[in-house]
Amino acid sequence: MKQFEEDLFSEKDKIAASSLVVEGSVDTRHGPILYMEDVSVSFDGFKALNQLSLYIDAGELRCMIGPNGAGKTTMMDVITGKTKPDTGSVFFGQTIDLLKMDEPAIAQAGICRKFQKPSVFDALTVFENLELALKANKSTWKTLFFRLNGEQRDKIEEVLATIGLTDCIQQRAGILSHGQKQWLEIGMLLMQEPKVMLVDEPIAGMTHQEVERTAELLLSLQGKHSIVVVEHDMEFVRSIARKVTVLHEGSVLTEGTMDEVQNDPRVIQVYLGG
Ligand SMILES: Nc1ncnc2c1ncn2[C@@H]1O[C@H](COP(=O)(O)OP(=O)(O)OP(=O)(O)O)[C@@H](O)[C@H]1O
Ligand SMILES: [Mg+2]
Repeated sequence: MKQFEEDLFSEKDKIAASSLVVEGSVDTRHGPILYMEDVSVSFDGFKALNQLSLYIDAGELRCMIGPNGAGKTTMMDVITGKTKPDTGSVFFGQTIDLLKMDEPAIAQAGICRKFQKPSVFDALTVFENLELALKANKSTWKTLFFRLNGEQRDKIEEVLATIGLTDCIQQRAGILSHGQKQWLEIGMLLMQEPKVMLVDEPIAGMTHQEVERTAELLLSLQGKHSIVVVEHDMEFVRSIARKVTVLHEGSVLTEGTMDEVQNDPRVIQVYLGG
């Protein structure tokens, strides 16, 4: 009988624990990791985003396409806190209201962004750039006394392998190719173990080989991170596409596989008409 009571008690504990929502953690038990609902952003009366609703699942690799001015970059600005919308809601998991947070807090929570122009430190080695990314969250005082532990060294090696720069570890970032710099920047983001990565036009200026390698890299990251990729190059999008969202005039025009959206008459109209 006593054993039965103990079992019952621990079962109750488990149920209580499983229904507990820890404040500050990303709760994705009921669906997407990123929600945008009815988000509008106006610039001088012009609606850059017009009641945009978007849902990104945990571990998903989502491609976003759409003509110039469709609102793709503005959407990323809203998610990262750079632009506050006039209306709508933006949630990270079920419980974290991104509209109540500023840019640093959103980055700290695990949403990071890769800009088009790589911002690696040319004078530092590849290793040092990654090391610096580890320190980025720490105060200056702590940074002064920062020493890598074994686990952090392992993390740097793991990231180097992921971005394909293991052989360049001691090279100065300044002598890397444009593509390698872009991968290093992705590596610097990975050091912070982001939950969501927003990547705006990653392949601009890359050679064909670098484009292929970037596709492989992004594909290898899905599952571990949720990734939103904005890109105009349709061949590239096709090579990584799972679900594709087409943005037009600040709203979602349609979503689906690459074939579905490319054959959608509305999409054809928007691209030809644009
Ligand atoms: N800070 C701003 N002030 C005024 N207008 C802006 C601002 N940012 C964006 N816009 C306008 O909002 C619209 C959407 O711009 P956005 O940069 O989000 O488009 P996009 O889809 O990223 O386009 P592209 O494919 O050219 O990068 C555009 O008409 C743009 O001119
Ligand atoms: Mg843009």
